[in-house]
Amino acid sequence: MKKVLILNGSLRKKSNSTQLGNSLVMPQEYELEINRYNAYNMNVKPCTGCGWCDKNVGCVFDDMDGFFADFEAADYFVITTPVYNGGVPAPLKAVVDRFQRYYALRFAHGVKPPVAKPKRAALVITAGSKGEGREYIEKMFRQQFTVMNTMLVTTVFVDSTDTKQVGEEEYRLAFEHGKRLFEY
Ligand SMILES: Cc1cc2nc3c(=O)[nH]c(=O)nc-3n(C[C@H](O)[C@H](O)[C@H](O)COP(=O)(O)O)c2cc1C
Repeated sequence: MKKVLILNGSLRKKSNSTQLGNSLVMPQEYELEINRYNAYNMNVKPCTGCGWCDKNVGCVFDDMDGFFADFEAADYFVITTPVYNGGVPAPLKAVVDRFQRYYALRFAHGVKPPVAKPKRAALVITAGSKGEGREYIEKMFRQQFTVMNTMLVTTVFVDSTDTKQVGEEEYRLAFEHGKRLFEY
């Protein structure tokens, strides 16, 4: 069974981005094993840039060891996030920065690829205003995926959530994006 790692970046009960992510990943359609994390509940230590990972393999902090084991085992990586001040919410950014260990593995330790199992990824981004945030967030993840053996296959971007309700049309759109991710 293929494994999906879902990383949610919103803690809201009826989070648009989380619900769109659920429409994208349909385990009953594709027989997927799902591991789900919410960045807010992970309470990770932010990267301090201490350089430990340049000299050693891994990270000086062990609070994300379980997450990274699930990440390395995954076939698919789905990240859902609202736009907060042009970027991603702080807890998700803390998780993102902790992937520094793979940059170190690639460039300080010369391991190629630093993540053995290739992954296909999807982003789900929601924004309150029109057109906000997508470009920056996609760029950030695309850059990071280069050291994660991960290919960004598709992005679901739903904007103007401040003024319009996310509904059936958007959920169907997310499901269609899921086909791009899982049917290839
Ligand atoms: C702290 C904060 C900052 C936000 N910053 C932006 C922003 O810069 N641009 C934007 O379009 N929407 C912004 N929003 C609105 C959210 O992106 C929008 O409500 C989104 O749909 C929430 O997704 P969720 O339902 O998954 O939590 C912000 C919301 C909050 C609470």
